[in-house]
Amino acid sequence: MNQDIARILITEEELQNRIAELAKTVSADYEGTVPVFVGVLKGVVHFFTDFVTKTPLPCEYDFLAVSSYGRGTVSSGVINMQKDLSSSIEGRHVVILEDILDTGHTLKFVKEHLLSKKPASLKICTLLDKPERRQADITADYVGFTIPNEFVVGYGLDYREIYRNLPYIGILKPEVYQK
Ligand code: PRP
Repeated sequence: MNQDIARILITEEELQNRIAELAKTVSADYEGTVPVFVGVLKGVVHFFTDFVTKTPLPCEYDFLAVSSYGRGTVSSGVINMQKDLSSSIEGRHVVILEDILDTGHTLKFVKEHLLSKKPASLKICTLLDKPERRQADITADYVGFTIPNEFVVGYGLDYREIYRNLPYIGILKPEVYQK
């Protein structure tokens, strides 16, 4: 285990099993359609690839790049969009894929932004949900794991851009971010 991790919250095996369940549920709900899965970069990259490869539906991918945390541990609430979608989603069934729903500022911004592009439907699928921290009025339609209010990294989630490549979700030792 990485020396900066206090403990593993969700193992690789637990992640893969739950993502397979999520993919099965979403596939059943979207059967007969060709949904567009929109990933919110960068944290979603691991979840996105594991989710879509477990989804048997024909589907399209697109991505948004947004950031609110900068180099800190607390969301600024101000969302910067660094990359918009590549294609039109007008009239399409769209599922936003996100790694974590925390304060909710990011997904609220992303949802409103995508709704303005007139999709036929729009749902949110988040791997992690931390409801204790919610500030914005937003909920996900599909949730992988509801987690406690701990600073988690790994499997795409970072602290100052590091730890994204850990294969599990781990709780960062407080001394790492209190330095
Ligand atoms: C993280 C995470 C979510 C967002 C959730 O992204 O990937 O997109 O924060 O937080 P919120 O619910 O409090 O808005 P970040 O802005 O750190 O960018 P990143 O995905 O590039 O790491």
